[in-house]
Amino acid sequence: MYRRLSAAEAAELIHHGDTMALSGFTPNANPKAIFRELSKRAIRLHEQGEEFQVGILTGASSCQSVEGDMAVAKAIKFRAPFSTNKDFRTHTNLGEVDYEDMHLGHMAERLRHGFYGEIDWAIIEVSDMVEGDKECRAYLTSAGGIVTTIARLAKRVILEHNQFHNPNSKYLHDTYEPADCWQNRGPIMVLKPYDRIGENYVSIPAEKIVGVIESNIPEEARSFPDVNAETLQIGLNVAELLSRDIQQGRIPECFLPIQSGVGSTGNAVLKALGTSPLIPRFNVYSEVIQDAVVDYMLEGKVIDASCAAMTVTNEALRKVYDNMDYFSKHLTLRQSEVANSPEVIRRLGVIAMNTALECDLYGNENSSHICGSALMNGIGGSCDYIRNGYISIFTTPSTAKGGKISAIVPMCSHIDSTEHDVDFIVTEQGYADLRGKGPLRRAEEIINKCAHPDYRPLLREYLKLAPMGHEPQHMRAALAFHDTFLRKGDMRLTDFSEYL
Ligand code: COA
Repeated sequence: MYRRLSAAEAAELIHHGDTMALSGFTPNANPKAIFRELSKRAIRLHEQGEEFQVGILTGASSCQSVEGDMAVAKAIKFRAPFSTNKDFRTHTNLGEVDYEDMHLGHMAERLRHGFYGEIDWAIIEVSDMVEGDKECRAYLTSAGGIVTTIARLAKRVILEHNQFHNPNSKYLHDTYEPADCWQNRGPIMVLKPYDRIGENYVSIPAEKIVGVIESNIPEEARSFPDVNAETLQIGLNVAELLSRDIQQGRIPECFLPIQSGVGSTGNAVLKALGTSPLIPRFNVYSEVIQDAVVDYMLEGKVIDASCAAMTVTNEALRKVYDNMDYFSKHLTLRQSEVANSPEVIRRLGVIAMNTALECDLYGNENSSHICGSALMNGIGGSCDYIRNGYISIFTTPSTAKGGKISAIVPMCSHIDSTEHDVDFIVTEQGYADLRGKGPLRRAEEIINKCAHPDYRPLLREYLKLAPMGHEPQHMRAALAFHDTFLRKGDMRLTDFSEYL
């Protein structure tokens, strides 16, 4: 049996400057016990005038105990690849954290190739393990993430055996790690969303295991606000455009796998698809599944699902654990490199649906930064899917902050997905089909179908001001909406004459 450590003892082993790579993907499956002690230790050390900061690398975002409390403790030196945490956002926007916002599908490969230097620690949450003399077989909990890679690369490993999870969670996992590109690596042989191509455990050399923390901590899961009239309408619009494409033969009658991004809008869209009579039963190939997918799997509307994480509430997780016989045959948790593999996404013909903060008149999209500067969350896996999807859809309410912000702007203040990768923009007003249209027709479609009526005259006025070109932009007025919001608190007060 491996050495047992208390969480406080484990936290004492971490040194200033260490790079820690963690299990988990979104706030699920993260090691929590050690971080609850580590953030306290960081505060103590700082009070004594000592430096203490670590690098934190994960598969995606993580939970409050990891990135929230560590950011508040000013204990994060470097962080990648994604975050959805409010405290982390606040401290990053204060310039305290060196944060690389990175495609989730690239993370494991970048680690393998040394882009983040050496990994001092892998801290891995497990639901069970086989404590062998030479090899530990670690069984993962509610997410795949980057564990196969970090378990191999890290100098030392600490396991958190979290008994909150069902030891049978292993039956959900498929842990496959691709070879390096210079080794004539073969394709990832996932041909259908459910396919399994690897093991259901992660192999860790026993000599690396410094200790095991026994814990029983519920997931620090997020729940999303209930669907409201606006997000419901966005969902219905998505269902309508997909059913129109089925009728017109652009999407096959057997339908295609669905990816749905994080957030309340994404959750609402999925709920609408699940209840829409226009949409056939479908498979999910996504980086996360949220609560709605668990229910639709039980109801039979979703057939099979593949993801890197169950980003679900503890209630939904309990439903999965209580129905393991069913879910072990229909749900696969993958390493994020596979879940978000551009090649697999393209080959399966995934319909990619993600949420934007803002889109511009030509179809460029921003999901990560507000008014150019302030981090919201990051890109997550949105670009992995949007760039490679069979059809790529961005949803967003047409306005934010009670109408003071328009989600349709002349030019995005930051760009994550470009016009070349976006097929549809959908708001509660309607949907703009950008396929087969040049910039001027795209602008017309977006203004007429997606912009809020309060903003349509301003957007049309902007187009008249912009000097003609293939994609007209007025270099002084392009960011007038954002500038007006920052100065006057309401984009509706934009007066283009101030910018001429
Ligand atoms: N400017 C400023 N604030 C804006 C805004 C804009 N253009 N659009 C929305 N907001 C604000 C909202 O008012 C809300 O603020 P609040 O938290 O103070 O109420 C907040 O942003 C979230 O908006 P909401 O409409 O609730 O969106 P959401 O929960 O659906 O999340 C994203 C939207 C874009 C933040 C989220 O989808 C995201 O992080 N996307 C990028 C990552 C991603 O797509 N990952 C998918 C695969 S992992």
